[in-house]
Amino acid sequence: MSRTLGVLISGRGSNLQAILDAIDEGLLDAYVGIVVSNKNDAPGLERARKAGATTVVLSHEDYDSREAFDAAVLGRLSEHDVEVVCLAGFMRILSPVLVRAFPNRILNIHPSLLPAFVGLHAQKQALEHGVKVSGCTVHLVDEELDHGPILLQQTVPVLEDDTEETLSARILEQEHKLYTEAIRLVLDGKVRVDGRRAIIET
Ligand code: GRF
Repeated sequence: MSRTLGVLISGRGSNLQAILDAIDEGLLDAYVGIVVSNKNDAPGLERARKAGATTVVLSHEDYDSREAFDAAVLGRLSEHDVEVVCLAGFMRILSPVLVRAFPNRILNIHPSLLPAFVGLHAQKQALEHGVKVSGCTVHLVDEELDHGPILLQQTVPVLEDDTEETLSARILEQEHKLYTEAIRLVLDGKVRVDGRRAIIET
């Protein structure tokens, strides 16, 4: 039986689209039960609606604290029996309210090879640092930014004439594949967590 995903977004939603496409193509035996955006103008909402997914907008500005906002998000995820939560460009740091409700069942994708270049503009940080290789990381979410156990990483070369845009595009192409693969591993119960490490059982 298909498993229910909840996807949290704040913007463009290309990773959400990759998840929806993977489901459509039968690459992922899952169902997007709900898409939550904290921005009412997130283009990803339209992608979700086109795919027939339920959407909800919850603005963090309407809540007094991170915990209160997360409790509202948790309420919506629970209503839809979400088993695994995918952060896909969701620009909020989760509080323990959400992290503890889904232990090792919240995934995030980040456009760098963590632990390098956490936070915003990871691709720009990579260029400024002069690294020759960058990439993307899918990790389990804990209470620190871009920090939890790493599930999968994919490298891409950094070219001499790269701009933030060209490097971001090269990484994004890999993000879309990597996220699907990581979600599949979690859904298949192939991931065991041992301290800081996520061990993939093949
Ligand atoms: C991606 O680069 C992702 O790694 C980062 O935010 C961006 C979201 O892009 N966390 P999109 O909204 O999925 O297109």
